[in-house]
Amino acid sequence: MIEYENLTRSNSAYMAELEEAAKRVIRSGWYVLGQEVGAFEAEFSKYVGSKHCIGVANGLDALILAIEALDLPKGSDVLVASNTYIATIMAIVRAGHQPVLVEPELETFNMDPAKLADSMTSKTRAICVTHLFGKSCRMDAICVFAKERGLKIVEDCAQSHGAKLAGRMTGTFGDAGCFSFYPTKNLGAIGDAGAIVTSDDALADRLLHTRNYGSKQKYVNDYLGVNSRLDEIQAALLRVKLRSLEKMTQHKRSLAEVYFDKLPAWLQLPRRRDDEYDVFHIFGVRCSRRDELRAWLLKKSIKTEIHYPIAPHRQRAMEKILQGSYPIAEELHQTELSLPISAGHTKSDVELVCSAISGFIAV
Ligand SMILES: Cc1ncc(COP(=O)(O)O)c(C=O)c1O
Repeated sequence: MIEYENLTRSNSAYMAELEEAAKRVIRSGWYVLGQEVGAFEAEFSKYVGSKHCIGVANGLDALILAIEALDLPKGSDVLVASNTYIATIMAIVRAGHQPVLVEPELETFNMDPAKLADSMTSKTRAICVTHLFGKSCRMDAICVFAKERGLKIVEDCAQSHGAKLAGRMTGTFGDAGCFSFYPTKNLGAIGDAGAIVTSDDALADRLLHTRNYGSKQKYVNDYLGVNSRLDEIQAALLRVKLRSLEKMTQHKRSLAEVYFDKLPAWLQLPRRRDDEYDVFHIFGVRCSRRDELRAWLLKKSIKTEIHYPIAPHRQRAMEKILQGSYPIAEELHQTELSLPISAGHTKSDVELVCSAISGFIAV
């Protein structure tokens, strides 16, 4: 059986160090906002190339807090990709704004910069970009568009740890970059965790308050905050895995090379460009007979996933919030198939997936 992801296997290389780090925190007697969180924040901001990092409880909170901290007029329109994971859209709503969906490019799954202008309204104040599947959005075009119109940018980097465009890391293009360290992410904790990076001092200061009841100094509350702190154990565990993140990314990139090399031509593969450094959180291909192909692979003991089976505007939770038709998002939701690619997979696993797929067309 080739699993889609096996977290025990993916984490096996770090097991001893993870156990040691957890033990260190348990024995320290300090469990919330201590040395480990401070050290992780310093190490992660250095890795990303931003001035500040603020650890929070998860990726959704990172997005909500970052969007709130922009201080946009309540009810502003915020542009967001029509095929993003629901968290990006929910965060905009939770922060008190209206998501306005922008269709993606079929070939990259990412927000299409050429479609931004048509989505602008007199209330548009920000763009929330998602670097989906580990590929950077075309931030060159998106930043120019935003700058010309005075729009803020929040980057959803939940799937793009270490991804770059023209040598620059995702998370450093906009006003803030929001990360999830959900266990399956390229930098995954052993539970929930998240962070916001920014080079804006005032924004960082505000976020340091709002993640902790609006308080930086004990029992002094300057803002209406929430409890969304990164805890010491997760920070200590993330520090262990951050040290190997580049190596792990190289591994996933080498698996992706096998896919690009060996998958049959009838399958639509993600478009690649020379200035994009993809980290392949997900290897998403497109196939009009996706469901049949998925069943065929399962019969051959190969598990795959769909990211995502239901488009955001089709979700019941969004019934009163999102209107309109989004044919490109629909097409992606009907044709996308995610192939196994993780720290726990080997090149021969991926070669097996390729040869099983090659056999499908004959059926
Ligand atoms: C694109 C995207 N945004 C946001 C999130 C939310 O992160 P979390 O699950 O840590 O709240 C996720 C994670 O699933 C995601 O994939």
